Amino acid sequence: LDTVKIAVLGCGTVGSQVVRLLAERGGDYAARCGAHVEVSGIAVRDIDAPRPDWIDRDKLTVDADALIDDADIVIELIGGIEPARTWVLRALRAGATVVTGNKALLASHGPELHDAARESGASLYFEAAVAGAVPVVYGLRESLAGDRVEGVLGIVNGTTNYILDQMATHGWSYDEALARAQELGYAEADPTADVDGLDAAAKCAILASLAFHTRVGIDDVAVEGVRSITPADIAAAKRAGGVIKLLAHARRVRTDEGEAVSVHVAPTLVSTANPLASVSGAFNAVVIDAEAAGRLMFYGQGAGGVQTASAVLSDVVAAATHIAHGGSAPRESAYESLPILPASQV
Ligand code: NDP
Ligand code: HSE
Repeated sequence: LDTVKIAVLGCGTVGSQVVRLLAERGGDYAARCGAHVEVSGIAVRDIDAPRPDWIDRDKLTVDADALIDDADIVIELIGGIEPARTWVLRALRAGATVVTGNKALLASHGPELHDAARESGASLYFEAAVAGAVPVVYGLRESLAGDRVEGVLGIVNGTTNYILDQMATHGWSYDEALARAQELGYAEADPTADVDGLDAAAKCAILASLAFHTRVGIDDVAVEGVRSITPADIAAAKRAGGVIKLLAHARRVRTDEGEAVSVHVAPTLVSTANPLASVSGAFNAVVIDAEAAGRLMFYGQGAGGVQTASAVLSDVVAAATHIAHGGSAPRESAYESLPILPASQV
């Protein structure tokens, strides 16, 4: 295949950055993937809405079905359940690869999507669905594929971490911090999902499914959000030598019947001696304990348009490479021609 055709569904905080980076970096990808990548169209809800100046308006459409039917890769960055679910299923059933950042969809309809992909031989990639730019999905799905994960603990929602951090370090009010998180593009279209812990719960379900090779859905997660955290709680945490963080925790537990997976999300007092206490702003961190590897920590920007676009594009390059090689991608991609600085200049 000379050209891999990409349909982008959604052109908001993340989608617009994906389109920009594909235009700027697409040339580099040809060497990495073994084929050119080309955005064939961008599906949006309101075709007349203002867009960043790098968006080619001729590519905008409200006819997502036609776009999907002509694509090799469908990038879903709409969010929510419908119409995202219908369009992702349409793409998978037609054998197209889907790349999505939609944790709400994966955590509520994951089995349906994975089954559809398996039946048609299509692939579903979702690095951007958990912890923004942080490659924790790859870490669990690929790097730890041969290990036995005992537990996953971390901060997986940038909006609430930003709110709690701004309240603790700058004395901002909850409302002020949430409004700023929305302006910065960290929050979901409906920020209730962030502040009530549902976004973190969806991510925790995805991480638990990958970690324990089982199907964990959002309804399996015990959730408590941050809406009720007051400045007085934050001051009390400080006096106790800690900070309040919204932690997601998935672990193996022993039961009378054998082993089970326990998953929960809750505001937690974290001692300042714990590395999770110093995760500031919209950063995320995930600590994974595995039997053979021991403790691993993944850390980086957990929300934001361009950072999340990086994760989306990692999936696009992997998928395009796979497609360009007829489903049998080489493990090593071709070397690129960047000069190497002499050691004396490093
Ligand atoms: P935005 O709300 O900024 O953008 C959503 C886009 O989807 C808009 O372009 C909108 O069109 C389009 N859209 C919505 N409904 C429809 C519809 N019915 N038909 C066609 N297009 C539609 O969302 P984000 O970019 O912030 O998030 C996108 C996805 O990425 C979500 O699943 C989110 O959870 C996930 N994500 C977001 C991160 C972030 O930091 N923002 C980080 C990681 C994941 P229009 O512009 O015309 O309104
Ligand atoms: N609303 C999400 C967050 C976006 O704040 O973490 C990243 O998934």
